Amino acid sequence: MPQNSEFPPLENDLLLRAARGEETERAPVWVMRQAGRYLPEFLEVRKKHEFFEVCRTPELATEVTLQPIRRYSGLVDASIIFCDILVVPQAMGMEVLMNPGPHFPDPLRSPADISKLKETVDVNIELKYVFEAVTMTRHALKGEVPLIGFCGAPWTLFAYMIEGGGSKTFQNAKTWIFKYPEESKKLLMRIADVCVDLLVGQVKAGAQLLQVFDSWAGELSPHDFETFSLPSLVYISSRVKEILASENVPIVPMTLFPKGASYALASLASTSGYDVLGLDWIIEPSEARRAVGGKVSLQGNLDPGVLYGGRDAIEREVRHMCASFRGDNNVPLRGWIANLGHGITPGVDPEDLRWFFECVRKYSSKSTKL
Ligand code: CP3
Repeated sequence: MPQNSEFPPLENDLLLRAARGEETERAPVWVMRQAGRYLPEFLEVRKKHEFFEVCRTPELATEVTLQPIRRYSGLVDASIIFCDILVVPQAMGMEVLMNPGPHFPDPLRSPADISKLKETVDVNIELKYVFEAVTMTRHALKGEVPLIGFCGAPWTLFAYMIEGGGSKTFQNAKTWIFKYPEESKKLLMRIADVCVDLLVGQVKAGAQLLQVFDSWAGELSPHDFETFSLPSLVYISSRVKEILASENVPIVPMTLFPKGASYALASLASTSGYDVLGLDWIIEPSEARRAVGGKVSLQGNLDPGVLYGGRDAIEREVRHMCASFRGDNNVPLRGWIANLGHGITPGVDPEDLRWFFECVRKYSSKSTKL
């Protein structure tokens, strides 16, 4: 296991300070999917290598993780390891293709199909390539910015494993949770155990913050989120911190991105065990701040679609977002990580993303009065 002291010293700790709720002179900023199809240099790599080949080859994963860091050097405050949430179902024995969206040729159609999954999953073997990529990337970053590790939330992964891909109605996943609630809860916890091992392994390999993506949280009613998603999310945050503490590995901040579930912000802030809550763009930042009452940090939340609107729109919307997160000009900025409210989409001009970073820097800064 690489020790922290073996890595180059961190030069920019804005992200980690904001995640811990500390005061920052401006908001740290990064974007979800920052290594992605809007970048020509990413598309070049993808011409030669299939999606999961990039994930599984540490040199390639390191290269694409670094692409946005190089392009936006000095403007972006975090890197996120290039991988995918669907490596967990793969580790559990399922086949997943990317063509161009995710496709499972043999999804779990009924609880009887659970027997197709591996009884036990040794993440240190199945997902060793993730840990190697994390360590290699952490060295290659040379301390410029911190490295984020991640996994999918059990509910989101469960839905993919059962639907076999994206879905509009979630017919199959909903059939499971409402017809077979006990079997569903068991499967959700099996997925959670693999997530815990993946997250712990990433920290041991060098990840400095962890994010859990519950991209489909908003498909559940508040009551069903509490029943079918929250228990595994709480289990993950508590187990990861417990294991790290018991092995004397420094605990890292954890972010939960419960997309579409801002109704749950107040209770997540009090009880989920995450340090940062990620926001989608469906909530006004000032309202989110009120809901969490300073108990956790917040991340987000510009509509990714704003990046299609050109420079004036980007500046206008970023200024509004910053004013809403900052509140009163005289109150110091603390506990906010600027980001989009979901991943950056293909077709965005990379220079417009640069402008987004520049606008965040300007309008989130203490010295800019709003
Ligand atoms: O953020 C990053 O830059 C790190 C890499 C990352 C990817 N996927 C790379 C990727 C991360 C953190 C993810 C998470 C992920 N993957 C989520 C959660 C976040 C979210 O968007 O809600 C989900 C639901 C997935 C599953 C997935 N992977 C989908 C639905 C798709 C296809 C649709 C799309 O947005 O492209 C992918 C493919 C994928 N994962 C791409 C990238 C860069 C594009 C595919 C390609 O290169 O051809």
